[in-house]
Amino acid sequence: MVRNGMQQSQGYKSMKTSTTLILLLHLSLHTVDEGHAINPSCTCIRYTSTYGKERGTFSSPDYPRPYPPRIDCLLYTFVAAPHEIVELVFTDFDIFKGHLECIRGDYLKVYSEGGVHGPGPPGVNEYSAWSRVLCGSRADAPPALYSHGPLLVLELHTGIKATNATGFVGNYRFIDRRNFETDGVQVAETWCDYVFHSQPNRPAHGRLYSPRYPSSYPSNVRCTYHFSARHNERIKLVFEESFLQKGDESCLNRADIIKVFDGRTSTAPVLAMLCNEAVGYEILSTGPDLLVQFTANSDLPGQGFKARYQFQMEDDSNADGDINKKSSTTEAISGLGPAVSAATSSCHQVFSSDKSKTGKLTSPLYPAPYPQKTQCHYDFLARGRERVRLVFEDFSLQRITDNIIDCESMDSLDVFLYVDGRLEKMASFCGNDIPKPIMSNGPKLSIEFRGIYSSRHSKGFKISYSFVEDYGIATGSQLLEFPCAFVFNSSERGRGVVTSPNHPGLYPRDTECNYFFYGNENERVHLHFTYFDVEGVVPCEAISASDYVQFYSQMIQSQSHRHCGQIKELQVTSEKNFLRITFKSNDRLDATGFKANYLFLRDSEMHSITMPNSIDRGTSCNISTSLLLLCLCEVLWNFR
Ligand SMILES: *[C@@H]1O[C@H](CO)[C@@H](O)[C@H](O)[C@H]1NC(C)=O
Ligand SMILES: *[C@@H]1O[C@H](CO)[C@@H](O)[C@H](O)[C@H]1NC(C)=O
Ligand SMILES: *[C@@H]1O[C@H](CO)[C@@H](O)[C@H](O)[C@H]1NC(C)=O
Repeated sequence: MVRNGMQQSQGYKSMKTSTTLILLLHLSLHTVDEGHAINPSCTCIRYTSTYGKERGTFSSPDYPRPYPPRIDCLLYTFVAAPHEIVELVFTDFDIFKGHLECIRGDYLKVYSEGGVHGPGPPGVNEYSAWSRVLCGSRADAPPALYSHGPLLVLELHTGIKATNATGFVGNYRFIDRRNFETDGVQVAETWCDYVFHSQPNRPAHGRLYSPRYPSSYPSNVRCTYHFSARHNERIKLVFEESFLQKGDESCLNRADIIKVFDGRTSTAPVLAMLCNEAVGYEILSTGPDLLVQFTANSDLPGQGFKARYQFQMEDDSNADGDINKKSSTTEAISGLGPAVSAATSSCHQVFSSDKSKTGKLTSPLYPAPYPQKTQCHYDFLARGRERVRLVFEDFSLQRITDNIIDCESMDSLDVFLYVDGRLEKMASFCGNDIPKPIMSNGPKLSIEFRGIYSSRHSKGFKISYSFVEDYGIATGSQLLEFPCAFVFNSSERGRGVVTSPNHPGLYPRDTECNYFFYGNENERVHLHFTYFDVEGVVPCEAISASDYVQFYSQMIQSQSHRHCGQIKELQVTSEKNFLRITFKSNDRLDATGFKANYLFLRDSEMHSITMPNSIDRGTSCNISTSLLLLCLCEVLWNFR
């Protein structure tokens, strides 16, 4: 066992070997400097960072055998140096869960707010508020716990009944709080507002964190981070980790949210909204200003975010190390050596939205056959709220068997995206079928073309690319206040069509789009979905990694039914003169989304709905007059 700096080592050993540990601990520990214990009979085990000891292990009594019952109060006190915080990582966790709330029976309370402020030694006392209470299995415990200040206390309590639960074991570490300091100048008299100026002899990159990171952020805060580059520069921002709330709720329903504005103030277009959990989320500003606003109002604050920024010269894609990395990665994936690609290196190209918003990309020698052993690599680089959109106009690659199971051993075109900060193959195309349009999930997309075999019939491909801000949604008017939101106003148009992003192509990953329908007074909106294919399994939740479509009768409303899967007939009528549709996709699997006809109707017209192109009279649908109503005749679409 580690000894250094752990005054508890004696007691710790006793625990391992004896169930009379409480008594022994009482005898062997000298922990009177705890301040007022929570309960005078508490026994304490103390871990400090003195004597250069900055890490070690801790465990429940008798681990890995079941812990004894009737432990009234056993305190694990971790005391770091003033500039440090405490990190605990459980490697095993098993505390008998007798109650849902973990506040009776067996539990482990966490005090992460204890501080060194005020008179006397650091500590928690009977007035300290615990920040969370844990019980259950490994899955119920957080991956890591962090203190806000230099002190963290765990309080173990076990009930009168013995159980077979084995308790916990974990590692602690004292980490320097200065590792999590935001590089930037704090605005005077603010708690968490920062400005970042690009200056000639200062580093062009740095880091930013949510307050108290890596510990959870406080409730009721608003922080701003303002980036100001020089006029020929822009800002690249990567949220390496952003853990606000668990789940896949729409950001419109969240009280904790990060908004990124493409300009100096919060009236600039919103580039991104983060509210759940994301890693490796990248943003590139259009111009020299960028504003990040972090608002937290929920009752259960999450861990927060860590991000890095970089001031980049405009139009300098070589400054973007990721692009180069990407090339080498995809070359490795392709399995062809450099000798093969050397001959065709001229077909390596970067398409930047700074140069042109649209263009054509063709295979070498198109429309003549591409040469054998062709290997090309294309990178697309968008900015601001733009996404990369590819529409295939012609596609004819050499196929060596008719039995296409995958494109691995044939001439193929692979599309790569950054998903969760990693480069990932999104799709692979081969043969002669023209692929559906594709849209990136962020500012970058890459294509790898492998024309190994070719023949006189292999024309290759012709792709029309564009950098679009409207997500390929052609109707409604786009709002600036959200990354992807569209308004349909009855006064402007009484009926029309609405689609998912990039429809009829695959919708982009990690994307939320909202559609707001505003009717005049006494009007309601009626939607008839003529196509619905959203990847997921009912009830369309995060646990099944489902994308979903959700309908709301108010702008802010958390509870409502989700829709996903392939639905043949779906009609929805709003309760009043407003309807919100939220479409949300996650980071995996894609589908082609939806297409619906919408129609604003006065209440008096409601009984006689006949939609344009109304189909399939066999399905009977209720148009309810009271509720946001779904007439969901769930017949699975038979595609083939
Ligand atoms: C503990 O496990 C043993 C064997 O699995 C079982 O017989 C016993 O009832 C368990 N005791 C408790 C308190 O759950
Ligand atoms: C709808 O359009 C009318 C007329 O153009 C306008 O006065 C009204 O503000 C619009 N409503 C919304 C919610 O955009
Ligand atoms: C239509 O509504 C009635 C009454 O609300 C209900 O009994 C009936 O099952 C509904 N039919 C369908 C097809 O949903």
